[in-house]
Amino acid sequence: MQRSDALAIDEKDPLRHYKNQFVITDPNTCYLDGNSLGRLPHNTVKVINEFLTQEWGPQVVTGWAHWVDEAQSVGDLIGRSALGAAAGQVLACDTTSVNFYQLASAAIKARPNRKTIIIDAANFPTDRYIMQGLAKQHGLNLVVIDNEDPAIAENELITPEILEKYLSDDVALVSLEVVQYRSGARQDIKALTDLVRGYGALLLWDAAHAVGSVALNFDQNGVDLAVGCTYKYGNSGPGAPAWLYVAKGMQNDLQVPIQGWFAQRDQFAMGPEFEKDASIRGFQIASPSLMGLRCIKSAFEMIETAGIDAIEEKAARGTEMMIELYEAWLKPLGFTLNTPRNAKNRGGHISLVHPEAQQIAVAMREHSNVIPDYRVPNSIRVAISPLATSYVEVFDGFERLRDLVSSGEYKNVKAGGSRVT
Ligand SMILES: Cc1ncc(COP(=O)(O)O)c(C=O)c1O
Repeated sequence: MQRSDALAIDEKDPLRHYKNQFVITDPNTCYLDGNSLGRLPHNTVKVINEFLTQEWGPQVVTGWAHWVDEAQSVGDLIGRSALGAAAGQVLACDTTSVNFYQLASAAIKARPNRKTIIIDAANFPTDRYIMQGLAKQHGLNLVVIDNEDPAIAENELITPEILEKYLSDDVALVSLEVVQYRSGARQDIKALTDLVRGYGALLLWDAAHAVGSVALNFDQNGVDLAVGCTYKYGNSGPGAPAWLYVAKGMQNDLQVPIQGWFAQRDQFAMGPEFEKDASIRGFQIASPSLMGLRCIKSAFEMIETAGIDAIEEKAARGTEMMIELYEAWLKPLGFTLNTPRNAKNRGGHISLVHPEAQQIAVAMREHSNVIPDYRVPNSIRVAISPLATSYVEVFDGFERLRDLVSSGEYKNVKAGGSRVT
């Protein structure tokens, strides 16, 4: 593949105009870390400024009359544009971690006679740590599927055959990532959900690394519970509110542990006893973060206009290009690939493994103006964020990575000194 080929693909890309809608201060940067933090949409700058000057400033407390239910309307937008979820099942609120704790706790409570909960070793740390805490809190047995062992799972992918060995009628809850944060492997949502349901257990999906890059079709796939963030492929900004999804049919059966006032049926009656609202608001803890919600609205309206299927198609093609360039340039330099080759089994990022991955990732940023990230023990993650990344940006990033490693220049760059990798 030549640079001219990448330019030709960009030329025909139906999403090519979206890149101009993002703030790009240095056009020479290859930003391949949209799976960690998405770029800032120009429209968000305008929208937040307008919120400050036209709403908060002049309206002050009277603004709450129309702000109060925005966790629900923005949740509906996330559901419609990216999750394949009908209205009334998604809330935009809190963080992925808080939402994970809330829904995992509610699921455990809904299966009171079962004493086992399951997660996988390759799952994101916050989910594993929260499951450890829940096991301790409720006296449960936490089973960890060792999918970091290639003898058990390829590229961390959990197949129904792998999962079934761990299931029994003692299992209350299983939690998996839709797209694995390190390897990029994408699980089969429907097959795994059906399998877990067959054992009478609940499956809580963490879709943080999938939302905004692939179609999730939660309603169609029969998903019960899911959480995720908005700041990766969702481009909604660092620390923007996360979301939670509770399928309509589950909402009556579940009670989250933090019974905040926003979940109260007649909230402003300020009554003495908690009485859960029957709608998705019954899962909301507290006051919504309005500026965060407006960032989400601005960014997810772009996703809705672009269409999640077109976005998924570009993620598949962009990661295919990465794998092609890896084969041609990086494999001969000692890299291996820890991501499935079938596009249906991956999301928007791939994982390049190298014994000196950490040093190379730092050098990519500091020497080559290519932004990836590094994940222990030896992975460089690179992503195409379909709205904000061009194909030629991917091509240039890979070419610079090849030159950095083949020349040995990465060895001259000192480690970044940041706590963040
Ligand atoms: C898969 C996954 N789950 C959970 C989190 C934690 O998100 P937060 O810090 O917003 O709670 C992350 C953060 O990157 C993540 O990638």
